[in-house]
Amino acid sequence: MCGIVGYIGNQKASPILINGLIRLEYRGYDSAGISTIEKNSLSIMKDKGRVKNLYQLEGIDSLTGTVGIAHTRWATHGKPSQENAHPHMDNSKTFSVVHNGIIENYHELRKFLIDHGYTFYSQTDTEIIPNLVHYYYSKDTVSDDLKFLRAFQHACSDFKGSYGIEIICKDYPDQMIVTRKDSPLVIGKGEEENYVSSDIPAILSFTRNFYLLNDFEYAVLSRNAISFYDQELQSIAKEVKHIEWNASSAEKDGYEDFMLKEIYEQPTAIRETIGAKFSESSHCVFDELPFTKEYLATLNRIYIIACGTAMHAGLAGKNTFEKLCKISTEVDVASEFRYRNPLVDEKTLCIFISQSGETADTIAALKLCKEKGAKTLAISNVIGSSITREADYSIYTHAGPEIAVASTKAYTSQVMLITILAIYFAEILECNQNVITPLKKEIMELPKKIEETLTLAKSIQDFSKKIYQEKDMFFLGRGIDETVAKEASLKLKEISYIHSESYPAGELKHGPIALIENDMTVISIITEPNLVEKMISNIQEVITRGAKTLVITNQEIDANLFDRMIKIPETSPFLSPILSIIPLQLLSYYISKEKGLDVDKPRNLAKSVTVE
Ligand code: F6R
Repeated sequence: MCGIVGYIGNQKASPILINGLIRLEYRGYDSAGISTIEKNSLSIMKDKGRVKNLYQLEGIDSLTGTVGIAHTRWATHGKPSQENAHPHMDNSKTFSVVHNGIIENYHELRKFLIDHGYTFYSQTDTEIIPNLVHYYYSKDTVSDDLKFLRAFQHACSDFKGSYGIEIICKDYPDQMIVTRKDSPLVIGKGEEENYVSSDIPAILSFTRNFYLLNDFEYAVLSRNAISFYDQELQSIAKEVKHIEWNASSAEKDGYEDFMLKEIYEQPTAIRETIGAKFSESSHCVFDELPFTKEYLATLNRIYIIACGTAMHAGLAGKNTFEKLCKISTEVDVASEFRYRNPLVDEKTLCIFISQSGETADTIAALKLCKEKGAKTLAISNVIGSSITREADYSIYTHAGPEIAVASTKAYTSQVMLITILAIYFAEILECNQNVITPLKKEIMELPKKIEETLTLAKSIQDFSKKIYQEKDMFFLGRGIDETVAKEASLKLKEISYIHSESYPAGELKHGPIALIENDMTVISIITEPNLVEKMISNIQEVITRGAKTLVITNQEIDANLFDRMIKIPETSPFLSPILSIIPLQLLSYYISKEKGLDVDKPRNLAKSVTVE
């Protein structure tokens, strides 16, 4: 969480920084601020709330500095306020810092600094950074080109926790230094100008050439050069990476919101994710994976570990691995898995799903599995993200940048990729060939069927007008549809603020049915052919208790049984989560719009959860 941007070049820094912050706002929007070097002194402008408050501040246009850092905050330590907003300066106003992450030992460091005469003006952990740098800087008697870097490195070696930090110094007006540990940070290379950002899309309109920094490494940026150093300040070389995403993929492109754009990008995201991994007549190919029949046959289980929506994609993966490959598969929430002393050993394959590749709990769970001797495989949407650098092997969804906080195209792409991975395993294990051939055919037809499903938008929008004022809703399903119910319920909660529960339909009468009241909306998903009758009986139970019912189905069912039925195209049960979630993504979107909410930036949330 939190977004940071940096610029050093020959242009006025403030508009570039603000532009970057607007694109990073999905990472947090409690406060925003920038700091630039202005004629050998440091300026800071910051305010509570959204980036728009920042660019409305009086005097922001008069900043002329060509070196600057900026921050948009998701509050952890210290409430959202002007004084807690970043950047923070040291007492002597020599250093200015923005920080993404948490300095866990800040109490101790703060006390140390107070004992040495420093004063603090905010409740943040970040304010210790510029002051500690100043402490070491003032003790260093050698004045050379590296004094600033030395003081910064000295301070960072005292930190416990996670950080992506940008720092500027009034004594070094032609430099910016950055470092990271367990927080994302990329460096963009331009022509006589360089950039820093928490993620690639925020600066994609300026450059497509990037350097990735590993934990504990430092980059010293000037206008014409970028030098890299390891933890001991030994100079290191880095290769520039060229990113293929085009700049318009990080723009709204005429859509009202990123979320709507991303929902409509799903046919392309799925096409790109399928890529050239197989044809109907050829086996799946993952060049980057080394798995043999012997290795897969000796696995005691697969673990899929993720958070939120990515975890829901993992549930679809469990269904496919177990049915297609006959490998027992467990799915766990990363923040729980880590603390339950999981049964993982060298015969376990651990798969980690993360759109951003930066989710702190998922990364920590991955490190734990490596310690236990398991092979680790990351599924991410971001090339070079932390999770892909930690894992033994990585494969990618090709959904393009996902900007809206609520995940849509990343989820369907994750389900797609994990399904193809399961087919790949089944082919190596030589099982279920009779199922695989028609499944591959269905996969090839899927993008067209997604397009067809998207044509339902208008009728879903009309339906949203009838139910947007509800306080509670239920989502029901059985089998694979229950995993979609979970994802639909999460989507509704996060962007419409309507409380909702998802339940396995057969479990309802063991307690939650007591919550069903007259006129409450119950949404059911029915795509499993052998569970149609059972689902209809469960829906009857809630109708009898006064519920209004919406059914999403690809089965031949009498529409008169429910208040509303939405028919989606038929597909393989392994792929149905990709189609059945789409009307429900649209429903959440339109309900949120109807309520006049900020769809792309729901309250209290941030897209990339880099704190545990
Ligand atoms: C919900 C949503 C979150 C993320 C979760 C994991 O719409 O987006 O639940 O799925 O925070 O994020 P990643 O996939 O980046 O690890």
